[in-house]
Amino acid sequence: MSDNKFETDAIRTQLERSQFQEHSTPMYVTSSFVFEDAEDMRASFTEEKERNIYSRFSNPNTTEFVDKVVKLEGAEDGYAFATGMAAIFSTFAALLNSGDHIVSARSVFGATHTLFTKYFPKWNIETTYFDINNPNEIESLIQPSTKILYAESPTNPGVEIIDLELLGSIAKKHNLLLIIDNCFATPYIQQPIKFGADLVVHSATKLMDGQGRVLGGVVVGKSDLVREIYLFSRNTGPALSPFNAWVLSKSLETLVVRLEKHCENALIIAEFLEKNNEVSKVIYPFLSSHPQYEIAKKQMKLGGNIIAIEVKGGIEAGRKFLNAIKMCSLSANLGDTRTIVTHPASTTHSKLTSEEQLATGISPGLVRISVGLENVNDVIKDIKQALNS
Ligand SMILES: Cc1ncc(COP(=O)(O)O)c(C=O)c1O
Repeated sequence: MSDNKFETDAIRTQLERSQFQEHSTPMYVTSSFVFEDAEDMRASFTEEKERNIYSRFSNPNTTEFVDKVVKLEGAEDGYAFATGMAAIFSTFAALLNSGDHIVSARSVFGATHTLFTKYFPKWNIETTYFDINNPNEIESLIQPSTKILYAESPTNPGVEIIDLELLGSIAKKHNLLLIIDNCFATPYIQQPIKFGADLVVHSATKLMDGQGRVLGGVVVGKSDLVREIYLFSRNTGPALSPFNAWVLSKSLETLVVRLEKHCENALIIAEFLEKNNEVSKVIYPFLSSHPQYEIAKKQMKLGGNIIAIEVKGGIEAGRKFLNAIKMCSLSANLGDTRTIVTHPASTTHSKLTSEEQLATGISPGLVRISVGLENVNDVIKDIKQALNS
């Protein structure tokens, strides 16, 4: 565990300098590494020596990125992936056997839901969902074969919050692995391991990169579990590319200043929207009207950069609003410097049936706003003219 403050670890966790004494870590864009002799090669492959062999296994840039996330989340070890979905899939695939059971919050990212409902059943792995607003039902859903308790908080796109401390205590009592997708919060806002998570997964594509450039994913947590995930990944090949790892490691250097501003802007916009007559509902963790406001305040340092709104008039009004937006982007990404507006029901979560969408907090007119770093008054001006159009 590092004694440094968060910002310092995000900046000063760095590879050893090369013979060129560079200040900022260079890119190690190489697929493999050379050995001194046959014995060096043998000992490296048997892991008697800890060193880079092949970039599917490890690479200096990837190591630097992972080391940072490990420190920032207060974890023991980690492994980085090409995407957030590769991190999520590989984590489950490495740790579960045929016949195992998952208990998960119903409100999970669309592709994670597709893993649970379409692909895992092919390998005899079943998932039971609990309602994020009714965590008291979780214990009744646990079976003898349950291995994993899984949730996101805040959720995508409904921005619901679940009590991580409660999940930690349930997981401990029933000897389950608690895995949390911490993508919307980042370790600066919330550290699930403190509340008892065994593993934390991220789509690094979002706020970790923060500038809409590269895809990436990472899992961090207990070293014995990460070891299993590493061995699975080393053989199946979802590794993060050295270039993307280099970009992401640099991005983490500015995570704190970016998030402070993202969250400041988001709160101002959420408060503006709450007073707007064209909007029937505003969901933002740090608004006192949020149903889980007290829990959000307990476990989150800031409210995050995502706001969900319901435009009066349902789906048609929502579409009209999106079509009237001038400056903000209509894009599937989030956590970018540029403010993004999305309609989850027809995009990211369109694979869910209408009933499933409603059960996960996605009404037909729900619009997700990922607040960026533009001047907040310009973002408000754009949203206001689109609502009034
Ligand atoms: C909460 C959450 N988890 C996982 C993912 C998947 O990440 P990626 O797109 O990097 O595969 C996303 C993507 O939007 C997400 O929002």
